[in-house]
Amino acid sequence: MYPKLVVDIRKIRENMAYLASLCEENGVNYRFLVTKVLAGNKKIVKALMPGGFTHLADSRIANLKTYRDLPYPKVLLRLPAKSEITATVRYSDISLNSEISTIKLLNRAARKQNKKHQIILMFDLGDLREGIFFQTDYLSVVKEIISLPNIELTGIGTNLTCYGGIIPTVEHYRRLLEIKAKIEKTFGFSVPLISGGNSSTVPLLLQKQLPEGINNLRLGEAVFLGRETAYGHPIPQMHQNAFNLEAEIIEVQTKPSYPIGEIGLNSFGEKPTFTDSGLMKRAIVALGKQDIQFDNLLPQNPSLKIIGGSSDHLIVDISKTDFKVGDILKFNLNYPGLLQTMTSPYVKKEIINY
Ligand SMILES: Cc1ncc(COP(=O)(O)O)c(C=O)c1O
Repeated sequence: MYPKLVVDIRKIRENMAYLASLCEENGVNYRFLVTKVLAGNKKIVKALMPGGFTHLADSRIANLKTYRDLPYPKVLLRLPAKSEITATVRYSDISLNSEISTIKLLNRAARKQNKKHQIILMFDLGDLREGIFFQTDYLSVVKEIISLPNIELTGIGTNLTCYGGIIPTVEHYRRLLEIKAKIEKTFGFSVPLISGGNSSTVPLLLQKQLPEGINNLRLGEAVFLGRETAYGHPIPQMHQNAFNLEAEIIEVQTKPSYPIGEIGLNSFGEKPTFTDSGLMKRAIVALGKQDIQFDNLLPQNPSLKIIGGSSDHLIVDISKTDFKVGDILKFNLNYPGLLQTMTSPYVKKEIINY
């Protein structure tokens, strides 16, 4: 059955082992495997862990729920919504937080469930997504947190290169370590986990520049696609092709490249534009925008060119090839493409080498 996403466990495990040893060399002892791209696929997670990683982290509580009987601490990456407090305490051991009103609700739910819930307090160092802005008075928030009996302030953290595209620097991490020092000096306890960020921190690891004291990273894209995300460069020692998308050709016809008649709107309500390059041998592939946004697809055969398509059809210029109906085309994916195909129930998942 196609379309099919082939997932190579051996390659991902090799990527994990490489990153785990790089982390270890840089003093990053707590390594969170960010599984959101696996869309709650327990079989894959089971085959990958531990592989040098210490925690399972995901932005969706529904995914953590699927992993509930796997023996690793679980981390909710997205700030808990007030509507999912009970589930957050039930299915995650640690959650990332920035809102005191939410943390108080977590405390209440943890008391009801007879638990202590750990939190990582997030600081926004300039990327402008989640976190207490670092220049505001955070000590009053910490004071309230430590008065809550069922909450444990396990760590502080930051997230960069997500909304604002800000590249992490030594300076950012010094700022985070200053926050740690200030909290510890004011309240007289130690903050064990300092969570420095995501795959955009990998260049600092490679250059051995990560300041001492940053002892946690939350890694997704680097693990699955073998690339860092500060500059988008592949990491030479890692696999970039652990995932391959395969889809089937259902029509091969030679047609004009410019539509005939008055051009109105396409099936997505957009006015399409075309270049007339004469007659073209084109394939229709059984894959659509419902499965993946076409910008996120890269044909493995360099002679192929994606022309466009609609919700269930992908049109490819195959002029320079001999492909015929029934043949399978293979594609590489970027991270959003991987997320889309992993979450589409119409894309079959085939797990190999495990
Ligand atoms: C808070 C947080 N940390 C870490 C990650 C992992 O990011 P990356 O895939 O770039 O490693 C994400 C996103 O998935 C996130 O939202």
